[in-house]
Amino acid sequence: MSKLLVTGGAGFIGSNFARYLVEHTEDTVTVLDKLTYAGDLTTLEGLPPSRVMFVQGDICDAATVDGLVRDSDVVVHFAAESHNDNSLSDPSPFIQTNLIGTYTLIEAARRHETRYHHISTDEVYGDLKLDDPARFTEETPYNPSSPYSSTKAGSDLLVRAWVRSFDLQATLSNCSNNYGPYQHVEKFIPRQITNILDGERPKLYGAGLNVRDWIHVDDHSSAVLAVIERGRIGETYLIGADGEKNNLEVVETILRLMGRPANDYDHVNDRAGHDLRYGIDATRLRRELDWQPVYRDFESGLAQTIDWYRANEAWWRPKKAATEAKYASVGQ
Ligand code: NAD
Ligand code: TYD
Repeated sequence: MSKLLVTGGAGFIGSNFARYLVEHTEDTVTVLDKLTYAGDLTTLEGLPPSRVMFVQGDICDAATVDGLVRDSDVVVHFAAESHNDNSLSDPSPFIQTNLIGTYTLIEAARRHETRYHHISTDEVYGDLKLDDPARFTEETPYNPSSPYSSTKAGSDLLVRAWVRSFDLQATLSNCSNNYGPYQHVEKFIPRQITNILDGERPKLYGAGLNVRDWIHVDDHSSAVLAVIERGRIGETYLIGADGEKNNLEVVETILRLMGRPANDYDHVNDRAGHDLRYGIDATRLRRELDWQPVYRDFESGLAQTIDWYRANEAWWRPKKAATEAKYASVGQ
């Protein structure tokens, strides 16, 4: 039984990870979250208070971070500014949270010799051509495209340097695009589901041919737990479940599952610098840590996710109008 500090645990993946730990381990969790526009305490509702504690605070606040890291066995760092589109309209919180926040946490983990796991994204590797047979591996050179992915890449490099120079007891994981419950309506899949629930049409950037490699958030959680428990210190593990699909296919599947004609969507302005394709080769994770995804059928995972948004309008409704107003202002 360990005491885990989960940063960003009121957001999408961090909260699903806390839920996963409660179900699959005997660990206790302290969530540290600033509750930005992306964080929501109701996301943690229903979790037992004896297992999941909540502290509202900023990962850039060294005093808060120091005490919490000192009192933990493991730090799992999810907190981030996480949306590419926001990073294009205002990069500044990305620099602050993703770079300074990570620096603040690894300095505390170094001081207290606390085990640290760093959550990152496959977007640090840039993008692949559509017809390229290659996928990202742990050896792919970093080549990020956006303010979001470049600050995530910078945070990864800080962690790697702290491992080498200060013997930080750290592992890293870089995961592909997640879907599942509690994802903010600014992101692709929840935006389209909630548009349809609102009687609006899904919005595809550009031609819709960009490819993302989808993984269910619970499979991300099980992989992170495997890396924390069995990963080699200093190593990076790519997390993915062979789920490459282009955006058009995803929108058509959502429309079909929700009983609407497959062509009932709009093309809107493309994203500046839009990465064409991400694809993960997770051989290291599968072979070395004997990890496998549970959600192998994207369509049934998507159907479950649609059901969740139908049943949980009270969770997403307060975020929807402001999100759509922001998109409308840039023709998306
Ligand atoms: P999210 O935006 O849903 O949640 C981020 C959480 O961090 C929010 O609760 C927010 O309040 C909190 N936060 C932001 N700034 C903070 C600060 N300064 N101090 C404390 N808390 C702060 O993001 P997510 O999609 O759950 O992503 C979590 C992590 O996973 C990120 O590191 C992201 O880069 C990574 N990741 C995400 C995906 C994906 O598909 N969403 C894929 C791979 C990796
Ligand atoms: P997103 O969920 O923002 O994730 P990321 O940028 O990290 O991959 O977007 C996923 C894909 O969907 C990406 O190619 C952009 C595209 N997209 C749309 O076509 N329409 C939308 O309304 C949104 C939000 C994204």
